[in-house]
Amino acid sequence: MLNGEAVEYEAAPNETLLAVLRRNGVFGVKHGCETGECGNCIVLLDGQPVTSCVLLAVFAQGHTSSTIEGIGGEQERGWRGSQPLHALQTAFIETGAIQCGYCTPGMILAAKALLDRTLSPTEEEVRDALASVLCRCTGYAKPVEAVLRAAARMRGEEVPPIDGETAIPGPEELFGGIGPREPLEPLGGDVLTRTLPAMTVAPEVDTLQQVGKSSPKVDARKLVQGNPAFTDDIELRGMLVGKLLLSPHAHALIKRIDVSRARALPGVHAVLTYQDVPRVAYTTAGQSYPEPGPHDNYSLDSRVRFVGDRVAAVAAETEEIALRALDLI
Ligand code: FES
Ligand code: FES
Repeated sequence: MLNGEAVEYEAAPNETLLAVLRRNGVFGVKHGCETGECGNCIVLLDGQPVTSCVLLAVFAQGHTSSTIEGIGGEQERGWRGSQPLHALQTAFIETGAIQCGYCTPGMILAAKALLDRTLSPTEEEVRDALASVLCRCTGYAKPVEAVLRAAARMRGEEVPPIDGETAIPGPEELFGGIGPREPLEPLGGDVLTRTLPAMTVAPEVDTLQQVGKSSPKVDARKLVQGNPAFTDDIELRGMLVGKLLLSPHAHALIKRIDVSRARALPGVHAVLTYQDVPRVAYTTAGQSYPEPGPHDNYSLDSRVRFVGDRVAAVAAETEEIALRALDLI
């Protein structure tokens, strides 16, 4: 089951859950380190957070998997979603817990696993739950505040608005004319995290609509829903995988090359050598006119000039097939 629906995906024996989900368009599962360290690929497997990059897809068979796409209301693709959000997603937006948003799905899922166990977590428990997710934007304090805020709301408590009214007042001597603002309300329990920056509030703020007031990040809603927003979230379904056979020699001539076995491998769509491509010379020097030359490179050539120079190119249905085809050349 994936996000409440029975799904069937094909998976190679060595394919990870991360690879299979993203290959099938579940882009809310982010591709980070691939080594189980960053937590950006977290999926809830039977309610427990797991790093899907180090879990073989076959182990998810027969289990319940949840991704960010299954959190909150119906997802809507596009710049702005219009469906209801989970309390965690709302709190992440309200508190400004999102910077680039790459780690946000992992953070929200890790937090959801915690709130599914208890709606009264301590701040330490929240920090512990989020510790498995690395944020490359280094945003760690606001997500803690967001989770505590969501928990308070899910307990049915009123939470204070986050807007200019909660700003810390400027120094009396500077703005003596404006009265002191309300101090921040406690957010349930012994909350230690306070992330509102010290703000100097000018008297004009009270008459302005935007200046001095917090406003949600313009693409926050899209990011908390895990919608495709990054260059890695491109549609890969049906796309072939390309691999290159590289030269082990620093300087050599290819006198004979046999690609027949690679071409015959099921799942291979093309195998190219210097015999298959037009001989168009180009230079690797310079980036614009006039190029310094010399024009002595070819995309594939019968002469290799360095270790790692291109010998052949393969296009196949999977990375594994492409690599096997390279072995057959
Ligand atoms: S991509 Fe899975 S833990 Fe980093
Ligand atoms: S990685 Fe950018 S917000 Fe965490």
